[in-house]
This record gives sequence, C-alpha cells and structure tokens, in this order.
Amino acid sequence: MIKNKKLCLFLLGFAAIIFVACEKLLPGAPAQNELLDGPVEGLTSEENSKFLAGDVAFNDAIFTVENGLGPYFVATSCGSCHAGDGKGHPFTTLTRFGQSDTTGNQFLNLGGPQLQNRAIPGYQPEQIPAGATSAKFTPPANTGLGFLAALTDAQILANADPNDLNGDGISGVPNYISAPFFFVPQSFHQPLNGKYIGRFGKKAAAIDLLHQTVNAYNQDMGITSEFAPAEPGVNGVPAYPLANPEVAVNTVLDVVFYLRTLKAPIQRDPTNENVLAGKQLFTDLKCASCHTSEWTTGPSDISALSYKTFYPYTDLLLHDMGAGLDDGYTEGIALTSEWRTPPLWGLGLAKNSQGGTYYLMHDGRATSIEDAILLHGGEALQSKILYEALSDTDKQNLIQFLESL
Ligand code: HEC
Ligand code: HEC
Repeated sequence: MIKNKKLCLFLLGFAAIIFVACEKLLPGAPAQNELLDGPVEGLTSEENSKFLAGDVAFNDAIFTVENGLGPYFVATSCGSCHAGDGKGHPFTTLTRFGQSDTTGNQFLNLGGPQLQNRAIPGYQPEQIPAGATSAKFTPPANTGLGFLAALTDAQILANADPNDLNGDGISGVPNYISAPFFFVPQSFHQPLNGKYIGRFGKKAAAIDLLHQTVNAYNQDMGITSEFAPAEPGVNGVPAYPLANPEVAVNTVLDVVFYLRTLKAPIQRDPTNENVLAGKQLFTDLKCASCHTSEWTTGPSDISALSYKTFYPYTDLLLHDMGAGLDDGYTEGIALTSEWRTPPLWGLGLAKNSQGGTYYLMHDGRATSIEDAILLHGGEALQSKILYEALSDTDKQNLIQFLESL
C-alpha cells in the first residue's frame, strides 16, 4: 500500500493519463465475432493447452532447409496459407494435376497429385507432366472444422440423393476415398466397398482432419512424418532414398486437435431486418438445399463438441456445378465438374484475410458474392436463375445476410 497521499494521487493521475493516451494510440481489440482463430467455448484446461500447442505448430513453426523443408514444396508453414485461419489469397493457391476420367490419378508416379512449384537450392521446381490436366485451389477458412468432423456418416448420407428421387434437380453425393494406413475408423463411419466418406477439401478428398493434416505437411511443405514417411519426389524419382520423420507424431496430433477445436464463426447482426429478409430468400432460392444451415453433432470425446447445434451452411456433399466450373480434374470419385458444397459461415470475414477483396469459389475466380452466385450452374442453375429474377432490394438483402455469416 502507498502511504504517502500526495504520491498516491500523483500516481493515479499519471496512470489516468497513460490510460487515456493508450486508448488513443492503440486501436480497440477486434470483437470476438470479427475473429476466426480462437478456441471453441468450454474446453477443459488440459484441452486448452493442447489447443495452444497446436496453434504454435500451425502458425509459428516455419520450416527451413535445416529442419526438413522440401526438397520440393509450396510454402513454409500452415499459417502462411491459412493466415488467421481465414480464407487465403490466390497468391497461396495450390495446383493439383491428374486426368479428366475417374480411373484413379495416373500421375501419382510423376509427382502428383500436387504440384510442388518451389524447391530448395540444388533442386528444380516441379513441372506439370505432359498430358496431365490440373485445377487450382485457394485456401479455405479452417474454422469450426471439429463440428463437421463430429457429424456421423448417417447424418451426411441422409441428405444424399444420387438419383434425385425428390425431383428438385439437386442430387448430392458423398465422395468415397481409400483410407491411408494410419486412418482409425470411428463407430460412426459407414464404409462402402472399403472406402470412406471424404469430408474435407474442395472435392472432399480427405476423410478426417488427420488425413488432411498429414497430406498438408507432406505435399504442401515436403515434411515427412511417421504417417507419411516418403518425401514427395518428381517425375517418379524419390527426393531422398531414406527420409527421416521431420515432424513428430505428437506435433501432428496437436495440430489436428487445434483444427478440431477452432471455434465456429459467430454471425454478426443476426436480427437486422434486412439480414432476416435475406435469410428467408436463401431458403426460397433453394440455396439451403446444398448449403444446409443447421446441424447437431453426435457424441464426441471433446465434450465442447458433443451434441452441439451449429450453422455451417454445407451438406458436405459433391454437386455437379456445370461446365463453367469444370476444371478437367478429378479426386476420388468426384467428377471434373463436381465440388463439395463449401461452408458459408465466416463468408463476410473472408475479405479481411484476402487483402480486402473477396476471392471466392474453389480457385478464387469470383471477386464478389454476387459473382460467386452467378457462377452457379449444373444442379445449382435453378438457384442462379431465381437470383437473377430478384429485385435489387432482395438481391441486397440476400447478400447482406451472406455477409453477416
Ligand atoms: C501452400 C498453401 C497451404 C499450406 C502450406 C497449407 N495449406 Fe491447408 N489448404 C490449402 C488449400 C489450397 C486447401 C484446399 C485444398 C483442397 O481443397 O483440397 C487447404 C485445405 C486445408 C484444410 C481443409 C479445410 C476444409 O474446409 O475442408 C485443412 C484442415 C488444412 N488445409 C490444414 C492445413 C494444415 C494443418 C497445414 C500445415 C500442416 C496446411 N493446411 C498447410 C493451402 C495450404
Ligand atoms: C446444387 C448445390 C448448390 C446450390 C443450390 C447453391 N450452391 Fe452455392 N455453392 C455450391 C458449391 C458446390 C460451391 C463451390 C463451387 C466452387 O468452388 O467452384 C458453392 C459456392 C458458393 C459460394 C462461394 C463460397 C466460397 O467460399 O467460395 C457462395 C457465396 C454461394 N455458393 C452461395 C449460394 C447462394 C446464395 C445460393 C442460392 C442462390 C447457392 N449458393 C446455391 C453448391 C450450391
């Protein structure tokens, strides 16, 4: 305690000046609903520590030649493509190559599926082999993935309608993927002919977040692990004959835990009357037939994810989006024109991590939400036609709703 009254008053005054000055100098911290990179609510303290360990590995671990980068790679950290866990800029696009038919990627011996367009000194960056077709992918936001991972296969299959029996012109199908050796099936998985439903990635080619993470280390950064011990080579020539694991199993698992426990985006202004009008239009225009708004998770080993209702606006199914979005490239059983419905939560925050402009759709070709809607074809053609027929006010309300997500 400060005994001298004058000194005490002086210090208080000084503190007040600093407080006021700092208020002026420092911009206010962004509100929680403007941020994507926090943990879900209700983690235990042990879970919080794992989240933080994963956060460091995801955002702060930068790979260099010394700690295993490459020899062929695309970028040097997860966070460099997934900044703030928001959508990435087209500067950080990935290119994948293969062929247009679904007989399985014929170019896996020639460095596929992913083009490693950078190399460490002494190596030549990879080229797309002759005869291959390719597609570009911009980084998606990584928020709320644990909720999607906690859905059961039965829930996903309940929305699939491969033969369009309900006659609405929309026939979502799951992608089925051969599991990697390290995949541990859960009781909710329902394999078909030994293959599992893919949930993650733009063509739904990753079965779970471990699958996605292991491939990201290996294919995006040339980092080996016990899960993927071989360095990706080029043109059928392995990069190093004997590669050591360059990232520890526990680090990979921490990153998976981090991805599972990233919070879901929080809607801004949900009760605004224009937003509510737009929400109704979203259903009227059949957008919600693919962009399923509401889901409830099944049981989870993380209690914060157990039996939770959430609003991602995806059905996790593949849809034929028409010739305009056909890149001539397949993954699993996804046809060249088929894409997994992307979640729309966090859409309004996308441009914050994309340099102030929207870059939407799988390769970022749409620079506004309206452009993205107008690129919908195939199974979504009807929705696009209905959108075009709206009044200007209705169009604005729909877009205001999408920006609030
Ligand atoms: C070179 C840029 C780049 C790097 C580095 C990178 N990613 Fe990605 N990430 C992408 C792109 C592009 C996609 C979309 C790929 C696809 O759809 O198949 C993606 C997809 C994902 C997804 C799927 C999200 C979803 O909604 O389905 C997860 C999870 C993910 N990345 C995690 C990681 C992790 C973990 C790392 C580091 C180990 C990492 N990424 C490194 C660019 C990158
Ligand atoms: C038949 C299913 C289907 C319907 C119906 C549909 N969408 Fe989509 N939507 C998709 C798919 C699949 C994509 C991703 C296409 C791609 O990446 O090339 C997408 C992409 C989007 C995107 C870009 C998201 C991003 O992150 O890049 C927006 C915005 C969007 N849809 C809004 C709408 C609206 C609004 C409607 C109704 C007018 C609608 N969609 C109707 C399947 C659908």
